[in-house]
Amino acid sequence: MNRFLLPCIFAFAAAGLQAQENKPVYLDDSQPIEVRVQDALSRMTVEEKARLSYAQGKFSSPGCPRLGIPELWYSDGPHGVRAEINWNDWGYAGWTNDSCTAFPALTCLAATWNPELSGKYGKAIGEEARYREKDVLLGPGVNIYRTPLNGRNFEYMGEDPFLAAEMCVPYIQELQRNGVAASVKHYALNNQEIWRGHIDVEVSDRALYEIYLPAFKAAVTRGGAWTIMGSYNKLRGTHATHHKLLNNDILKGEWKFDGCVVTDWGAAHDTYEAAMYGLDLEMGSYTNGLTSESEFGYDDYYLGKAYLKMIKEGKIPMEVVDDKAARVLRLIFRTSMNRNKPFGSIATPEHYRTAYEVATEGTVLLKNGNGKRQKGLLPIQPRAYKRILVVGDNAVRNLMQGGGSSELKVKDFISPLQGLREKFGNVEYAQGYAAGRPMYGHVDEIPLSVMDSLREDAVRKAADADLVIYVGGLNKNHLQDCEAGDRVSYHLPFGQDELIQALFEVNKNMVVVLMSGNAVAMPWLDEIPSVVQTWYLGTMTGKALADVLSGDVNPSGKLPFTFPAKIEDCPAHAFDALCYPGDSIKEIYREDILVGYRWYDTKNVEPLFPFGYGLSYTAFEYGKLKLSSDEMNASGSIQLSCTVKNVGDVAGKEVVQLYVGDEKCSVLRPLKELKGFQKISLQPGEEKSVTFTITPDMLEFFDDKRHEWCAEPGKFKLYVGASSSDIRGIREFVYNK
Ligand code: BGC
Repeated sequence: MNRFLLPCIFAFAAAGLQAQENKPVYLDDSQPIEVRVQDALSRMTVEEKARLSYAQGKFSSPGCPRLGIPELWYSDGPHGVRAEINWNDWGYAGWTNDSCTAFPALTCLAATWNPELSGKYGKAIGEEARYREKDVLLGPGVNIYRTPLNGRNFEYMGEDPFLAAEMCVPYIQELQRNGVAASVKHYALNNQEIWRGHIDVEVSDRALYEIYLPAFKAAVTRGGAWTIMGSYNKLRGTHATHHKLLNNDILKGEWKFDGCVVTDWGAAHDTYEAAMYGLDLEMGSYTNGLTSESEFGYDDYYLGKAYLKMIKEGKIPMEVVDDKAARVLRLIFRTSMNRNKPFGSIATPEHYRTAYEVATEGTVLLKNGNGKRQKGLLPIQPRAYKRILVVGDNAVRNLMQGGGSSELKVKDFISPLQGLREKFGNVEYAQGYAAGRPMYGHVDEIPLSVMDSLREDAVRKAADADLVIYVGGLNKNHLQDCEAGDRVSYHLPFGQDELIQALFEVNKNMVVVLMSGNAVAMPWLDEIPSVVQTWYLGTMTGKALADVLSGDVNPSGKLPFTFPAKIEDCPAHAFDALCYPGDSIKEIYREDILVGYRWYDTKNVEPLFPFGYGLSYTAFEYGKLKLSSDEMNASGSIQLSCTVKNVGDVAGKEVVQLYVGDEKCSVLRPLKELKGFQKISLQPGEEKSVTFTITPDMLEFFDDKRHEWCAEPGKFKLYVGASSSDIRGIREFVYNK
């Protein structure tokens, strides 16, 4: 397929039509999109309408060439624009002009708790997508973090629906300003990779509406997302990608979504269901796709000739066919046929700046001393140590490789070791452990003798060093933070726990830097003086890390999910295997609405690190909470404010968090739920006032019997804090209906 010839053919066809009919309405972009859609539809044959709904290549679907309506081009993924893929298979095309900026993974973006930065991220990634002539970017991912074993958590925005909603909306809006559609994924309940293609989730309506759907809802109703990606798994017996409840009733019915439901690649399973239950675009079914090698051609897709046959037999109503075609046309007019979109740009200094800002603001300082006898080692003064040793495979590994569809070919990459050397001078390095290659579905077996000698070498060097900076964690290998498999253990892989312990035995001056998109167990936490969580930071990794460790940037990231002390403490693991990972056929979400901190809080389970937690090199003092009234009516609102003062010696940023709890209710409610947050920047000694407006919708739960949101009158508590556990003030008020 020649991308450059096709537009010319379209242009000629379009020009011919104009001459014949004096500029058809659908080509006239001064007309409203709906008018153009209806005009285009009125000119199309049934075959042409049906053809809009399935792929013509691995990452492309057709327009209507006869009318000069162009095709669509898609690309992964949530944190960068993926390298070009072959037309018919998953192989890379080997282009030399498709390297991009790797932005930090979405767990890092969520950890910034900074919606403005999320907008910058969306703008930059949108510009890169435009430069690469993409019409649909397959992201962001907003599946809720249910278990730390999920291989794809790094592509999502954490465990809280409010945080994920607030963070995804600006990303989508700014991305789409470039004429590139977001494809918000994976709708819905794709909360694990093991058996993802068929696991049948049983979940209550309350958990659906209160936990798993709000971020998707915000993406549609506030972000205005133009596409949604249907997930692989099943819900209540039917595949999610063509699901009446998810697509017809909720997405297109309750939320009035006017865009396209796109399958995940290979997620469709049935022609009638796909036609009737809200699927608009089928992508990636076979043709050497996800599931198997096959001769299966595009016309053999479920929405291919089988769909056309059903239409002709009268089994699919014409309104359904028209509605699907209208949605695809709308998407084309918004993207590939939008003549006002910018040209875009790639790997620019501005994009690197945005990647850097997100990387530094998302980095979370987990521990810096224990406030008692143990002193923290951070920040590290550049000339304080003569001999610094960096240990760990992640210090030199390109973590943009592997992980599945979000893998990126980066134009530039500053490794941690490089960044630390630039900052601190001549730093020595020892690998410490070997992790093998990032391969989809396979792992390298590393001989024990290799592991032993790497460990011995690192320990020997550590004994002679003044400071050890350990850079490890997970990586993008199969069974780590990687698609198509879950982690097999909550512990660090590759013998890292033992390695950290052995290094500490010979050198107490040790900083541990963890790179991962997931929580991990930390059996050594009490002993290690300083620990930093850095996610996957992309292109600017080394610079961002060195600037945080040296104190040039004061860390201000807060955890977007809880780190359990042990895996059994996590709600999805607190029941039987049917609750996670299921019995390979079925899975029951027994923890219901008590996901993440809602569980730890309500059940009084002490986490390793709570949701919303993150330290700073300075300290913040919260003033007394002031409430404008201690009563609120159904039509009213009240204001809660508090001052926050930087009482340390350096400038810093604090995320002030508001949680709301219902004292007494006819249904089980979590102790408290996040309903607001503000990130503020404070100079040493500076004080600012933060105000939250409390409205009745913040008090609601989803009443599944009446199928509506509802707040019961009575006493409510407002908690303001620096994390879900570090509450600095509580106020109560009475809600009168
Ligand atoms: C993933 C999607 C991705 C698609 C296309 C699937 O395997 O689940 O997230 O966008 O492939 O690469």
